[in-house]
Amino acid sequence: MPREPVKMGPALSGEHAEANSIAALRKQAEGCERCDLYKHATQLVFGEGPGEARVVLVGEQPGDREDLAGRPFVGPAGRILDECLHEAGIDRSSCYLTNAVKHFKFEERGKRRLHSRPNAGEIERCSWWLGAELEELHPKVVVALGATALASLLGRRAGVLKNRGDLITTPAGYPVLVTIHPSYLLRIRNRVDAAAERGRFVKDLAKIAAQVE
Ligand code: URA
Repeated sequence: MPREPVKMGPALSGEHAEANSIAALRKQAEGCERCDLYKHATQLVFGEGPGEARVVLVGEQPGDREDLAGRPFVGPAGRILDECLHEAGIDRSSCYLTNAVKHFKFEERGKRRLHSRPNAGEIERCSWWLGAELEELHPKVVVALGATALASLLGRRAGVLKNRGDLITTPAGYPVLVTIHPSYLLRIRNRVDAAAERGRFVKDLAKIAAQVE
């Protein structure tokens, strides 16, 4: 059966910020008021990595630790992502890591700040920055880590489960590799299931290598 034409989400098809370096984009984004999330977050968490990175990994949004540190993937999900990248033969320091949404969205429960999912409007507004990061880096492969990243890259109707492990060639000029968000692995209670899912994640990430050889 012929595949449907690839649809692109707001980060690949919409308008985006303009600047001539990642540092300049980041500076612009520091004043971002495109949605309300900046009002409660500690700070912007912009993407990070070498300007010549050939691999861009896109997560959902910064978590509590990232919000405090001002850097992406430095908390528990980042740790498991690092380990799995390593097992897949990919060096994190050669990759650019970013998020679909650049401010932490949370609900306060007593002293705790509980992660809250960004909505479609927030994803769309923040694609202004993700689109610009991709335009600047022009990577060989973009990895969508979970549903929010996928919605920004390929639109809301592209499901993670439907496309898991696929490398989808986009008219934007680079393939998008679809996989789960690493925080999913942290939520699996059964050890056997957790090990199996982790193995699948490593297998997905190992597909990056073929794109950058
Ligand atoms: N989860 C994400 O999606 N991004 C981060 O930076 C950290 C946790």
